[in-house]
Amino acid sequence: MAGLSAVPLIAFASPKGGVGKTTLAAHAAALLARAGHRVVALDLDPQNALRLHLGLDLDAPGAFGARLPERPAWREALVETPCGARLLPFGAVDPARAMELAQALWREPALLAEPLREMLAVPGLVLVADTPPGPGPALAALQPLADLQVLVLLADAGSAAMLPQIAQNRQLGRGTLAARAAERAAVVLNQVENGVTLSEAVLEMAEQALGPRLLGVVCRDEALAEALADRRMLIEGEPGAGEDLQLLAEALAKRLRLPGAGGRARVEPPGLFDWGRM
Ligand SMILES: Nc1ncnc2c1ncn2[C@@H]1O[C@H](COP(=O)(O)OP(=O)(O)OP(=O)(O)O)[C@@H](O)[C@H]1O
Ligand SMILES: [Mg+2]
Repeated sequence: MAGLSAVPLIAFASPKGGVGKTTLAAHAAALLARAGHRVVALDLDPQNALRLHLGLDLDAPGAFGARLPERPAWREALVETPCGARLLPFGAVDPARAMELAQALWREPALLAEPLREMLAVPGLVLVADTPPGPGPALAALQPLADLQVLVLLADAGSAAMLPQIAQNRQLGRGTLAARAAERAAVVLNQVENGVTLSEAVLEMAEQALGPRLLGVVCRDEALAEALADRRMLIEGEPGAGEDLQLLAEALAKRLRLPGAGGRARVEPPGLFDWGRM
């Protein structure tokens, strides 16, 4: 684990936007919750979209990320979602406020690092964080604490070009510190299309360059976009992306050695956990 935390923190990130971070983070959170883990999904993107993916309305109340400069109590900001994971929503902000918040976090990473350290001390929690695309202050504050950074790439030429850097742990820049953080990254290739030459070629390159650091592959499946429109998740292991997402959640659990991973499944439904005692 990254720090001395009892709790795993999984940070979803990507060099470019629109690749499926929020979709994958939401399904990972929901599927881990469904497997019996006590999951907090943390939205650090001012798009404030994780709530939608977890089955809430865009105008549902609640804000955590947007209130970081006020040092909000994270337990009080938790919102229940229909999928069993609890959410720390970003909150609705206009673009000017989003810029101010990013600047505040850049100046003072502790605004995020401090509540994160508190969360990481709560036994039995699993933290799943969604970040804005590219480098930024939220990711910079998360990186030293994250046990696993999940880099989401597409099966396209742009992603293929990044594979050598990732394979050599150079994707976060130069120096030992960046290399150490980069070692804790794994890749998920999203929107892979069977039978499409480029897609299959990039998948093969990723398999060769990354080996076990290619944590998962999710096929391109319109059912994902349709499910989002219906405020539904593909959590029934539906063939296609549903199955791939289930396998990704299992790979995350195994990689982080979560209880029950790789062996007997946990039997307690999420409802049996006493959230009140955190
Ligand atoms: N495997 C997939 N198959 C089909 N559509 C997908 C898949 N993954 C994601 N999408 C769709 O791609 C779009 C972008 O997904 P998403 O919002 O999760 O990306 P993102 O990386 O979080 O974007 P941003 O960088 O803006 O935060 C959404 O419409 C989503 O439904
Ligand atoms: Mg997103």
